[in-house]
Amino acid sequence: MAANYYGNNSGMNSSRSSTDNSAVVGIDPIAVDPRLADADDERALDYLMDGDTFSVTSSIYDYRYENGRTYHRYRDGAYLMPNDEIEKDRLDIVHHMYLVFLGGRLTLAPIDNPARVLDVGTGTGIWAIALADQLPKTSQIIGTDLSPIQPEWVPPNCQFEIDDAESEWTFPPNHFDFIHSRHLNLSMRDWKSYIERLYHHTTPGGYIEIVEHNISAHSDDGTYIPGGPVHVYMEKVGACAVQSGLLIHPAPALKRMCREAGFVDIQHTVKKLPWGPWAEDETLKELGRWARLVLMTGLEAYGMALMTRVGGYTSEQAAAVCDGALSTLSDRSAHIYNYHHFIVARKPNVGEVVPPPGRPSGPRS
Ligand SMILES: C[S@@+](CC[C@H](N)C(=O)[O-])C[C@H]1O[C@@H](n2cnc3c(N)ncnc32)[C@H](O)[C@@H]1O
Repeated sequence: MAANYYGNNSGMNSSRSSTDNSAVVGIDPIAVDPRLADADDERALDYLMDGDTFSVTSSIYDYRYENGRTYHRYRDGAYLMPNDEIEKDRLDIVHHMYLVFLGGRLTLAPIDNPARVLDVGTGTGIWAIALADQLPKTSQIIGTDLSPIQPEWVPPNCQFEIDDAESEWTFPPNHFDFIHSRHLNLSMRDWKSYIERLYHHTTPGGYIEIVEHNISAHSDDGTYIPGGPVHVYMEKVGACAVQSGLLIHPAPALKRMCREAGFVDIQHTVKKLPWGPWAEDETLKELGRWARLVLMTGLEAYGMALMTRVGGYTSEQAAAVCDGALSTLSDRSAHIYNYHHFIVARKPNVGEVVPPPGRPSGPRS
């Protein structure tokens, strides 16, 4: 009789005791890590769990607490904005503001029921969830982020992963019909590699959309005053961002990088966002209301860690810069806005004849 899985001839009614260490035929025994024997305290197992994956799992909720706010711990320091409840509320308001910007649409890309969608740096995941609600249940929408700040209850076609978009991606090439990212201007240090990754992982004929804003402010009537509190904020925060290797006027470089990566049909749309309800136009007025709400906590969210960690400011000095800019939000005579950019591009189809790169289409910026 052939030996069965229990390595004896008597079937499952073997008298094999629980201490019997006879092996399943053909499968090698698993060697025990000798470090387990060396570690004599009760944390021995934790010590061995401390590989890449497990340390990520255990540390992603171990946030950094600083100046009254929390920041992500996974890849600590890669991103300089908070991840606490105040910031989550702000991100959800930003999302609503963009719905007003785009007349209720989630994107300017001409997508038609994409089967696979990726939202990079998804934040609270509100955009990914909203898109999942609109798409058929057979679609798959993935949101990635450094922080686990997404809800657990999500549509069945939506999922979230903790992932660093600046590390190699594990997704297959030519995989996503649409890749979207919004407000990564204080996140990405290497945009060129990021856009090359977008190209690599977008399916031929698929689209990408990158939504960013400048770290700068303007007015059309001279009420954005050089030396005034918002100007001071922009100069100081902008200088720290540049020092940290971040792009503060991303659009021109991003368009060029999209072209160089191989994307075609690059569309660049620029919109002004009024900082308050000062515009006459009703839609702009509504946008301004939301923008003001975003900025109430956003000025600190953008500026605090950049100024203290990168610029060497004390938290009091940084808070004074933020508070100065904040006070302008209550000044009815200040008609300040900033620019928001929407870049949509298509990966050519297989065999498509691509014209040589010429002057970029869309507005100058
Ligand atoms: C300003 S928030 C924008 C969130 C979201 N895209 C939105 O529009 O509501 C930027 C997000 O990018 C995430 N992030 C920053 N650097 C990242 C990286 N290297 N990889 C993945 N996510 C990143 C942050 O954790 C944060 O949630």
